[in-house]
Amino acid sequence: MLPLARTSRFPRSPDADLDPIGHSAVSCRRSGSIHRAAGVNYHATVIDHGKEPTADLHRGGPRMASHRSPIVRRLRHWASDCLRVWQRPHLNAPLSPFDMQGRLVALKTLCRLEARQWFTHWLHLSNLGSADWSSRGKCPVVLSVSWTLHNGEAIDLPPREYALPTLLRAGESMRVPLSLQAPEAMGDYRLRVELRQRPERWFREFGVAPADCYCAVSARARDDIDYQAFYAAQDLGRNYWLVVGPQTRADFDRLAQVKKQHLIDLGLHPDARILDVGCGTGLLAQALEGYLSDRGRYVGTDLAPQAIEFCQARYRRPNFHFQVNEPTTLPLVDETFDCIAFYSVFTHTYADETALLLGEAKRLLAPKGFVFADVFTSPRVERTQGHRGAIEWNLHHFLRLVALAGLSAQCVFSTPWQQHAERRFFRFVHRE
Ligand SMILES: C[S@@+](CC[C@H](N)C(=O)[O-])C[C@H]1O[C@@H](n2cnc3c(N)ncnc32)[C@H](O)[C@@H]1O
Repeated sequence: MLPLARTSRFPRSPDADLDPIGHSAVSCRRSGSIHRAAGVNYHATVIDHGKEPTADLHRGGPRMASHRSPIVRRLRHWASDCLRVWQRPHLNAPLSPFDMQGRLVALKTLCRLEARQWFTHWLHLSNLGSADWSSRGKCPVVLSVSWTLHNGEAIDLPPREYALPTLLRAGESMRVPLSLQAPEAMGDYRLRVELRQRPERWFREFGVAPADCYCAVSARARDDIDYQAFYAAQDLGRNYWLVVGPQTRADFDRLAQVKKQHLIDLGLHPDARILDVGCGTGLLAQALEGYLSDRGRYVGTDLAPQAIEFCQARYRRPNFHFQVNEPTTLPLVDETFDCIAFYSVFTHTYADETALLLGEAKRLLAPKGFVFADVFTSPRVERTQGHRGAIEWNLHHFLRLVALAGLSAQCVFSTPWQQHAERRFFRFVHRE
């Protein structure tokens, strides 16, 4: 490509609004090069970006541009288009480096998506070379679309190729809409679109940068949960298990025993003082009713008043207490606990809420006590991702948050969760 300064080297033709191949010179904006069109007619366009062309020179001569009638002009456009398609030998051959000059820009560089959501990704594509680009022929020019992690790390989604919507003439630009589907796993991704000429030439090798867009992919909006509204819509007298997860009452009873055993394995004893944050309908309270001695103490808190009323009516031992808590504070002062459980709570709280609740746990934790909590972690997440239906964490980011709260963490076990995520169970103690 030969860049040209604005110059009077090419005298303005009397018919400068038409180029010899029949399309309006106005559509050739953004170019700053000499264009060799279709290998037949030569013309030069000297243009500043975004300005009208200042001169056209064509070997085909003014002869072809002398028709003024719009119908004749249209007919000429149409005829020359047909001719170009027919006379396009270069589309069957690799483009020269001079013809692989261009610009590819994503019109959005950040977007929020739901898992598996279809969306239109708009790009602006300029052909700054001297030959047309087409997705037809033996060496088609295509757009290669790839998803990677936010840091560029490869994932198991193979790249896909998309044809250009139409022929893109030398010196012209167009907007390209790509209809794409977001990955099904939550995470922070980089969506990269690159120009490529098949079979194996990449425009990036000739200076055309890929167009990147960073996408935060969250869970589907319809899976979001508003716990207060959710409780208000339930008849807890008839079904108190579904609202906290288990599908049946038997599952609720079984899970209660499993969760109790987790805590015992970590050091819970019958005389312990335990704080159960987000106690729900009392899954842990039910299991501990027959376990804690009279010297032990159980306090359950939840942000849903319906859950607290239900528990107060159902678990009636004198050393069992239930209280409503605000989303980020715990309504307790002047007492500490040997065990503080956040069972399936941080899986539903946003990062700032989790940080504040960890601070509350630190405040209420006895010197030799421990906190038990589970979170979803995913290597695809940069920090946190998701909504109250499910929040996923980057493990290291979560651990940094725990350390900032003055606690040290130990992952005691983990189980696979959806796609690439895991459910990790932690034991936190005061930092030395
Ligand atoms: C999935 S349920 C788990 C209930 C119980 N921990 C269990 O293991 O069965 C989540 C509970 O956490 C409660 N919750 C959510 N965010 C909370 C918060 N910021 N403070 C207290 N409770 C919260 C919800 O109201 C709901 O009862």
